[in-house]
Amino acid sequence: MRSAVRTTMAVTSLVGAALSAAAAEPTGKEIFDRHCIHCHGPGSEPGTPQLSRTRGAERALLTERNDLAPEYIQAVVRNGLRSMPPFVPSDLTDAQLEALVQYLTAPR
Ligand code: HEC
Repeated sequence: MRSAVRTTMAVTSLVGAALSAAAAEPTGKEIFDRHCIHCHGPGSEPGTPQLSRTRGAERALLTERNDLAPEYIQAVVRNGLRSMPPFVPSDLTDAQLEALVQYLTAPR
């Protein structure tokens, strides 16, 4: 009985720790605003004008596009693309990259 109580308490504190870790995880939008928007926001350089020049004005803003595959976004973020720098796992964890890709590929 006592050990059941102890086990329950241990499980409860593990769940509590997991929940607060989840709450601390930034959202996809927060990650985009922290790591990407200064090059890819409206009026930002060089991402926005470069994509406008090479992909067309209607593809200038990543947050307005729905033509990019999740795997492509992941590959560009991890490897970089021309003047865009790569983001390694110490910059963005796999979980953060996943949240970011979900934000950028959400239906719109
Ligand atoms: C230092 C500026 C800079 C930052 C920071 C940056 N990018 Fe870029 N990004 C660029 C540039 C410039 C290009 C265009 C590269 C080219 O010439 O094809 C680009 C291209 C891309 C493309 C390719 C789009 C296409 O049509 O092929 C994706 C996807 C992308 N960026 C995602 C991101 C994401 C997500 C982040 C944040 C994690 C980010 N970028 C951060 C500068 C940046």
